[in-house]
Amino acid sequence: MSLLTHCSCGNPVDIPGSGLHESNSSRKSRIVRSPSPCACPRCLLSTVLRRVSQRLVFAEISLKMFLFVLGLVALWFVVRWYKESKRVSNKEGKYVYITGCDSGFGNQLSRHLDKLGFCVIAACYTGKGEDELKKVSSDRLTTIHLDVTDSESVREAAALIQSRVGQKGLWAVVNNAGVALPSGPTDWLTIEDYKNMLDVNLCGVINVTLSVLPLIKKAKGRVVNVASVFGRISPFGGPYCVSKYGVESFNDSLRLNMAGFGVKVACIEPGFFSTNVTNTELVKNNLRELWDRLPQDVKDDYGHVFLEKTLEKLDERFRQFKDSDLMKVVSCMEHAVAAVHPRTRYSPGWDAKFFWLPLSYMPTCITDRVFLRNSPQPAVSAL
Ligand SMILES: NC(=O)c1ccc[n+]([C@@H]2O[C@H](COP(=O)([O-])OP(=O)(O)OC[C@H]3O[C@@H](n4cnc5c(N)ncnc54)[C@H](OP(=O)(O)O)[C@@H]3O)[C@@H](O)[C@H]2O)c1
Repeated sequence: MSLLTHCSCGNPVDIPGSGLHESNSSRKSRIVRSPSPCACPRCLLSTVLRRVSQRLVFAEISLKMFLFVLGLVALWFVVRWYKESKRVSNKEGKYVYITGCDSGFGNQLSRHLDKLGFCVIAACYTGKGEDELKKVSSDRLTTIHLDVTDSESVREAAALIQSRVGQKGLWAVVNNAGVALPSGPTDWLTIEDYKNMLDVNLCGVINVTLSVLPLIKKAKGRVVNVASVFGRISPFGGPYCVSKYGVESFNDSLRLNMAGFGVKVACIEPGFFSTNVTNTELVKNNLRELWDRLPQDVKDDYGHVFLEKTLEKLDERFRQFKDSDLMKVVSCMEHAVAAVHPRTRYSPGWDAKFFWLPLSYMPTCITDRVFLRNSPQPAVSAL
């Protein structure tokens, strides 16, 4: 059966498959008068043009929507940039207490804030660190000795700061002091290794914060905690990641608890930067020392090849990830201290932004696979 109709150019069109058992007269009565396509060039062209124009309309709507969303995102960035560009006034009257100023980020931050006009109280671990910092800073900067693991030292520093700041209170404390060694596979370490690092990286942060919190509340100031991107993901063993996860947690609860007092709490989560903490030779020597003290049965489980491959990988990873521009971290710290509207989190470093943080949001089965594939396995490995 077929249906007789006419195309837009007047040609009769026989549509097959319609009215198989119909008579001729009934077929004629069912002639469809509306124009329909046939295989003639004119009809084909008009069909093609109609379809193209439909697609163009659709593409135009999609493009408009895309541009609208893009515009909204751009607007959001501009508003954020404007909001975040504002800095607090009266820097000369604001005291900032920074721990771990002998070297690395702490040292650069204290010099940077000193240049910007803040009254910096730079806590150094060594006398040498204090002397060197004094030589390159203004009279506004004061150095003090501080061991964050020693409660007496923390108390003395807080008393000295209280006498300095008086009724104004303390504008900011930057908990920067930290250590990264010993680091290695978990069963290469002892509980003392864990406790020693937690004493500096976590208990030190908590103790220093508590010692000056009343002064910070008085100034409606800030607490800036230097964690690490390894407070968000844990790609290697040992106490470092454990301590930084702890700092993240302390930071988050403190932020909520202090919000009502007008105190802002910010966390800095850097990726890999070239400082003592990531000194390749120090880290490799530490691994060799840990290996040397292992009992023979653990050494047999891992095999000497494991140690050699781990040292090789370490070289490779540090070369890939380490950034020598410490100012990327220091400007985040400065923003957290000096901006009218500081962020709650900063993740300086391309590796942190585009590798470690995105990876931290992946399901565990994916992150585990990535890490296991890219790390040496023990001699007795079941994988
Ligand atoms: N570099 C990175 O890639 C990286 C990445 C993420 C997070 N971080 C964190 O950034 C912070 C600063 O480290 P950094 O990279 O600048 O390394 P750094 O140069 O070693 O700075 C750490 C500072 O802490 C001091 N310190 C060590 N133990 C202390 C103690 N018990 N009491 C007081 N001060 C002590 C050190 O003094 P001495 O120099 O005299 O030992 C040093 O001045 C650390 O919390 C670290 O975990 C670093």
